[in-house]
Amino acid sequence: MDFKVLCLGLLCVFFASYIYTPIPSNIEEQWKVRILDAAAKISTFVAMCFENIGIMRFDEFISMILKLDYTEPFSDENITVTDMTFANIPVRLYLPKRKSEIPRRAVIYIHGGAYCLGSFKQRATDFLNRWTANKLDAVVLGVDYRLAPQHLFPTQFEDCITLVKFFLQDEILAKYGVDPTRICVSGDSSGGMLAAAVTQEVQNNLEIKHKIKLQALLYPNLQIIDSCLPSYQENKHGLVLTRDIGIKLVSLYLTKDESLPEAMRRNQYMPMESRPLFKFVNWSTLLPKKYRKDYVYVEPILGRYNYSLPALTDIRMSPLLASDSLLQNLPSTYILTCQYDIVRDDGIIYVSRLRNVGIKVTHEHIEDGIHAALSFMTSPLYLKLGLRIRDLYISWLDKNV
Ligand SMILES: *[C@@H]1O[C@H](CO)[C@@H](O)[C@H](O)[C@H]1NC(C)=O
Ligand SMILES: *[C@@H]1O[C@H](CO)[C@@H](O)[C@H](O)[C@H]1NC(C)=O
Ligand SMILES: *[C@@H]1O[C@H](CO)[C@@H](O)[C@H](O)[C@H]1NC(C)=O
Repeated sequence: MDFKVLCLGLLCVFFASYIYTPIPSNIEEQWKVRILDAAAKISTFVAMCFENIGIMRFDEFISMILKLDYTEPFSDENITVTDMTFANIPVRLYLPKRKSEIPRRAVIYIHGGAYCLGSFKQRATDFLNRWTANKLDAVVLGVDYRLAPQHLFPTQFEDCITLVKFFLQDEILAKYGVDPTRICVSGDSSGGMLAAAVTQEVQNNLEIKHKIKLQALLYPNLQIIDSCLPSYQENKHGLVLTRDIGIKLVSLYLTKDESLPEAMRRNQYMPMESRPLFKFVNWSTLLPKKYRKDYVYVEPILGRYNYSLPALTDIRMSPLLASDSLLQNLPSTYILTCQYDIVRDDGIIYVSRLRNVGIKVTHEHIEDGIHAALSFMTSPLYLKLGLRIRDLYISWLDKNV
């Protein structure tokens, strides 16, 4: 056989096996999920090649692809949509056109993207925010924050809290006709983490007068101190988001030190002094048996590298590390988790911790869910799963906010 053909054949087999992830049988629309997963895997493969050759960084390539999907603000018959800034933070404001006798409810939505990617301009996020404003007759605010790796921790948190504090002022709420007692902060993925961290700050900061009525966390990641929770092991090579890529992106938010991701993969990156924090994410006690399965709890190896990174133990990076006394002041909470998702257990452990201190939590676990499902709600390749999650979230919001 021609040597070149053989090489090409081998390369194809290698590539196919690289992007091939088995799809669990309970997942619906298998062929669409297969295409979306392959698209994600091929993009990350190309991004990795470009990075290794030195053409551009990994995140720059992914970001370039996502930007093709950005939308301009456009108003429709019911909603006026405007891009503007609040306290120098870019926002997209969705304001219902109809006159209202009473002040409206409001939702502040923080997008995901592992702190490096994404925007409220993303088509799926814009669609969800418009839908929320329409269905709930609510004022909705999509928030952008500065991204890693140009801006490291805690910039993203700082931008979000600055925006929320600005919005919670009497004159701003009055200007947009918002009822101060009916405000929800929501977010998906890393946006869910930012929403959780912002909510902890608002509820516990005595200087902030108006509080948040509800928080909605959609498949959030809520800690970075243990990278071997059962969901991280089970979905290591999972659909759409693998453990390696998750770690690679999150570490860009923490440091420019390129040795951190490898240490995180081995779960050997936390400093010695962090040991007392592990009780907050000890999955052998906080995770129900159904999710623990037969995984055996092994304590992470501490003090091997001694990274001097305060972010590793900061509650603004890992809201799960907040003490019970801080959690007690939190509002009613909605947490949605997906079975086939590395960060699944972060959300489930937060459910346990909040319920332990008496917070009312609605936990929706999607047995056939995958990470970032809400990104797949718009044509050409939308998933019924994305629409189902949207409807669960909106119906909870409508009843509670
Ligand atoms: C505007 O609101 C009406 C009534 O709720 C609804 O039927 C219609 O679909 C909405 N329009 C858009 C563009 O969403
Ligand atoms: C985690 O929980 C297990 C079982 O309850 C316990 O043996 C272990 O010491 C705990 N580890 C930490 C770091 O809290
Ligand atoms: C990290 O710190 C611990 C305790 O402070 C020490 O025992 C250990 O040798 C240090 N490790 C490295 C690689 O410096």
